Formats: sequence, C-alpha cells, structure tokens
Amino acid sequence: MKIGIIGAGRIGGTLGKVWAAAGHDVLFGMRDPRRAAEEGITGKVGSFAEAAEHGEAVLFAVPGSVLLETARPLTLAGKIVIDATNGGNTDQPVVRALAAAFPTAYVYKAFNTLGFENFQNPTFGTERADLLFIGAPTQQEVVAGLITDVGLNPIYVGDLDQSGALDAALSLWFALSRRFGRHLAFRVLHDGRA
Ligand SMILES: NC(=O)c1ccc[n+]([C@@H]2O[C@H](COP(=O)([O-])OP(=O)(O)OC[C@H]3O[C@@H](n4cnc5c(N)ncnc54)[C@H](OP(=O)(O)O)[C@@H]3O)[C@@H](O)[C@H]2O)c1
Repeated sequence: MKIGIIGAGRIGGTLGKVWAAAGHDVLFGMRDPRRAAEEGITGKVGSFAEAAEHGEAVLFAVPGSVLLETARPLTLAGKIVIDATNGGNTDQPVVRALAAAFPTAYVYKAFNTLGFENFQNPTFGTERADLLFIGAPTQQEVVAGLITDVGLNPIYVGDLDQSGALDAALSLWFALSRRFGRHLAFRVLHDGRA
C-alpha cells in the first residue's frame, strides 16, 4: 500500500521503516527533507504535501498541538488518515476536529497509546502486544492490516466517539511505564462478541 508519513520523528520514522520493511511503498514527509540522512531516514523523502499526495493511507506523527494546522493545506480527500498524535489543544478531541475538517477522509486514531519502542519491538517473549484503535467502521480492516504489519494485534474499540477511552489508555500506559519502563504494552482478554 502507498503510505505517506507526516512527521518522520520517533513515531513516524519508526512506523515508516517498519511498513517499508513489510513491503509498503512509504514516502516520509519532513519539514526539511534535506535533514533526512542526519535523522536516519532513508528511502523516499519529500515535503508534507508530497507525502499526503503519495499516500492511500496518511499517518500524522507531529505534535498534537499542530496537527490541524499541519493537515489543513494537505490533500486528504478519500484517503485513510491515521492520527497518532497526543497533546492536542482544541475544545473537542483533536481527531474529531480533523475528521470534521476532512469529511470525505476515513479518519482513525491509532499508535498513540504505546511508546514508540513497542513499535520497534512489539513482542514480549512469545506474546504479541495489542494495539487499540478507533475510527470509521468502513476501512477498519485496512487499518487493522497496517497494525498487524507492525507486529501488533489490532483491537478495534469503536468510532471516534471513543477517543476518551484511548486517552485513558495512554494515561494508564504512562503511569505503568514509570514503574516498569517503556517496553510495556497491553493485552485485551475476552470471550468473543457480546
Ligand atoms: N514518542 C512516543 O513514544 C509517542 C507515542 C505515542 C504517540 N506519540 C505522539 O506522536 C507524535 C509525534 O511524537 P514523536 O515522539 O515522534 O515526536 P518527535 O520525535 O519529536 O517528532 C515530531 C515530528 O513532528 C515534526 N514537528 C515538530 N514540530 C512541528 C511543527 N510545529 N509543525 C510541523 N511539524 C512539526 C518534527 O519535524 P522536525 O524534525 O522538522 O522538527 C518531527 O518530524 C506526538 O503527537 C506524540 O504525542 C508519541
């Protein structure tokens, strides 16, 4: 799949490299693409606009406080848009504001509830970590596939109204990581559909 990465730091750089290794066609979008080599980014590199244009799926991995201003000039209509950010400063959840700004995009929130180290190393002994995600039901299988390609087990929580649940999971991750370190993730145990 063609994937555009908006922000090639710890999250964007890590996920983009993993997806490229899994066979996806990744273009890393950077504010200054000339700094790619010093940031350890190899492969296709361009501007944010070029990354958005390239991707059938577009990952946002910039500070949450600049997500909306970063997204607004980009072409995202009809694309799968994955918000991995935390720390937005809008009066509604930033992922809801993103979905409102791009009504024809399929907007998801994923990869925001675990530290980036867990995307480099998603297993614990023989156990594979779960990753919680939310968004439109229509394209959830595509996003689940991208999560699987990182080596994680996708857990679809629900639509964007569930963003508070992901925020709570992030708070729990931070609290536990202070005790156990950052290579730390969750498993959801269940008996199937209710
Ligand atoms: N680190 C984690 O473990 C983790 C886990 C889950 C979610 N997140 C979330 O993921 C997002 C990225 O975190 P990160 O750890 O990858 O951060 P990071 O390593 O600092 O990378 C941030 C990226 O955003 C770009 N950026 C910074 N300020 C910007 C601005 N004002 N406008 C546009 N682009 C800007 C940076 O570009 P330059 O290189 O040009 O500065 C860089 O590409 C954040 O929202 C964070 O809360 C992080």
